[in-house]
Amino acid sequence: MFRCRMNVSTMIFLVILQGATVVLFCGWYFQLSSCNNNTIQNHKVHILVLSSWRSGSSFLGQVFSQHPSVFYLMEPGWHIWGRLQKPKNMLQYILRDLYRDLFQCEFSGLEAFMPPKSNISNVFMWSHSRALCSPPACPLTPRTELSEERKCSERCNATGLKGLKSSCESYSHIVLKEVRFFELDSLYPLFKDPSLDLRIIHLVRDPRAVLKSREQAVNALAYDSTIVVDQRNIPPADLQYEVIKEICRSHVLINERAMLKPPLFLKGRYKLVRYEDLVRNPIGEINDLYQFVGLELTRKLGEWVYRVTHGKGVGSKADAFKITSRDATDVSEAWRNSLPFAKVKRIQDLCYGAMKMIGYRTVNNEKELKNLDIELLVPQGPYKFIWLPPKMGQAANKTRGK
Ligand SMILES: *[C@@H]1O[C@H](CO)[C@@H](O)[C@H](O)[C@H]1NC(C)=O
Ligand SMILES: *[C@@H]1O[C@H](CO)[C@@H](O)[C@H](O)[C@H]1NC(C)=O
Repeated sequence: MFRCRMNVSTMIFLVILQGATVVLFCGWYFQLSSCNNNTIQNHKVHILVLSSWRSGSSFLGQVFSQHPSVFYLMEPGWHIWGRLQKPKNMLQYILRDLYRDLFQCEFSGLEAFMPPKSNISNVFMWSHSRALCSPPACPLTPRTELSEERKCSERCNATGLKGLKSSCESYSHIVLKEVRFFELDSLYPLFKDPSLDLRIIHLVRDPRAVLKSREQAVNALAYDSTIVVDQRNIPPADLQYEVIKEICRSHVLINERAMLKPPLFLKGRYKLVRYEDLVRNPIGEINDLYQFVGLELTRKLGEWVYRVTHGKGVGSKADAFKITSRDATDVSEAWRNSLPFAKVKRIQDLCYGAMKMIGYRTVNNEKELKNLDIELLVPQGPYKFIWLPPKMGQAANKTRGK
């Protein structure tokens, strides 16, 4: 009798336990699936990859563009700068409004800056967007496959711009890469807009390396440079330095806004990434960035990143905007062997504040410049440094103080 009752109550207990488990798992399942639906239908994440010319942003843009959950456009601000030669501060606000539209998959603002009856192939660098090479924009590349720019540019140049909207609306993450923002204040309304969930990834590169890279692409950069310096009449020999001075100033402005006493709506929405860190530890850094915006690194993407950052060959100078497979770490240090100390010194003087803030050490002479054993990258960026536990923080502080 007793044994039987034990069994019965044990059985009842087990049945209840099983029932509870089923209910719990169903709950999770439905929560997860409705969560997913939300992400796609309502809750989108809006990402601005904010960078400057010759700083690796084409590569970082591709890292997002190739992801199956991402709708990506490369530098839509090109259309505005191309049509309006105005001081860049003024253009900033027009750019900001265009970005609000684009993040909401509205393309009429962009259309206004394009030739009448434009096609997708009139959008700047459209074929670099995997989304525009995949359904519903184009049948060529399944969403989970990697897109090939050349094939796409031949086969996906659909007539009209209608494909943009339906494509954009079908993704959970909208990523826009831009090199034409020089401060954050104009973007404040976008952070406060309840229909947007904005995150900023700020990609910076050692300004000495940027100078070297700009010298190899002077013509490709000429038009934008005149806007960066607000059409001031600057002797050609000084132009690159004036542009880089503006860029360094913008690094300080942006980073100060986001890191020192950020307004509440900016907290947790800004991430600084240095090109040099990206190149030395691509998978680790990309994992961090993906986590920051709620994406997962797929195996296919991980393999692609490895291939692109560890390939052989020297970058072609002919096509200034091409991403080629080459050993990215070697490329990122190459400027030290090819820039004379005088130029390096001039940049260091112009960019002193920005370099200190971001963690690029200066060199004192030609010998230090050419000696690659001297590490110029301060190990911890200010972003990570703030969150270090006290002991490590002190150590990092010491290194940074040097
Ligand atoms: C868009 O494509 C159509 C059809 O090929 C062509 O007639 C038109 O000129 C294109 N528009 C522009 C702005 O190039
Ligand atoms: C698409 O590209 C092909 C080949 O380059 C060209 O012949 C065609 O006119 C283009 N169509 C549009 C709509 O731009």
